[in-house]
Amino acid sequence: MSSDQITITPSSPHIGAEIGNIDLTKPLSDRQLADLRAAFLKYGVIFFREQDLSFADQMRLAEYFGHVHIHVGGAGTASKPAEGYPAIRLQHFDAKSKRISGEVWHSDQSCSEIPPDGSILIQKILPPDGGGDTLFASAYAAYDALSEPMKALLEPLSAEHDGAKLFDRSATVYPTAIHPVVTRHRETGRKLLFVNAGFTTRIVDLPRDESDAVLKYLFDHIAKPHWQMRFRWRENSVAFWDNRCTQHFAIWDYWPNVRSGYRVQFEGVSRPAR
Ligand code: SIN
Repeated sequence: MSSDQITITPSSPHIGAEIGNIDLTKPLSDRQLADLRAAFLKYGVIFFREQDLSFADQMRLAEYFGHVHIHVGGAGTASKPAEGYPAIRLQHFDAKSKRISGEVWHSDQSCSEIPPDGSILIQKILPPDGGGDTLFASAYAAYDALSEPMKALLEPLSAEHDGAKLFDRSATVYPTAIHPVVTRHRETGRKLLFVNAGFTTRIVDLPRDESDAVLKYLFDHIAKPHWQMRFRWRENSVAFWDNRCTQHFAIWDYWPNVRSGYRVQFEGVSRPAR
C-alpha cells in the first residue's frame, strides 16, 4: 500500500465507513483529499480513530470541503463557540447539563435556507463506562424503501423547518425555511427524504391533520434500524457526516458523566432542491 492510500472499512450496508492510514493533523495530499471526498459522498458519514486534532487541524479539514459555517442557533443551543475559534462549537455535557445537542433525529440546521453541507465532530472526553454513542441514518435508503405510491405522494410536497422546534425557545428568534420533502443530492444526484423530527414542523401543502399524520409516519420510518448504524466513540475519534443525506441522534445515556468534544461545519452552496 502506498503511503497516502487510505483504507476504507464499511460500517453497515447503507451508511458509514471507517477510514484508516491517514493522519488528519497533517495537510492532505491531492490523492487523499480525492479519496476522502469520494468516501464521504459514498458512505454519508466517515469515521477516523486516534486523531489528536487541534482547532487549527479541525478547521483545515473543514476548509478542504467548504467555507466554515457559523452556527445559527446562537445562545439557545446546548453548544458554545470554542475560545478563539467562533466556527468551532464546544459540545460539553456533564452533571450540570439540562440537555445536550442533538438528542433527536435531525440533520444539522435544516431550519436554514442553505443548511451546512457537512459537520466534523471530534470527542475529547468520553464517559468512563461507555455510552454517548451516536446513531446515523441514511436518508437515501429510507427514501428508496418507500413504495412507489408513497414516493409519488411526497415528491411535490414541501415542509417547514423551524429552529424553535429544536433550540431553546427562550433565547431568540430562530430561522425557518421551506424545503422539498424529497430532495436530490447536489453531487450524487440521488433522491432522499429531507424531513426530520428535530426541525420539521409541517408539510405546507397539506391540512394540519394530514401533515401531522404523514410527518409522524416519516419520522417513524427514518428511525427504523434497517438504514441506521451506531457509532461508538473513543477519545480522539472523529465523525464527518454529509448533512444533506444523513440524519443523526446523539444518545444521552451517560448523565452525570462527562462527554466533551468539538464540532465544525462547512457551508452548503445552494438550497436543498428536487
Ligand atoms: C450533533 O447533533 O451534532 C451532536 C452529535 C453528537 O454529539 O453525537
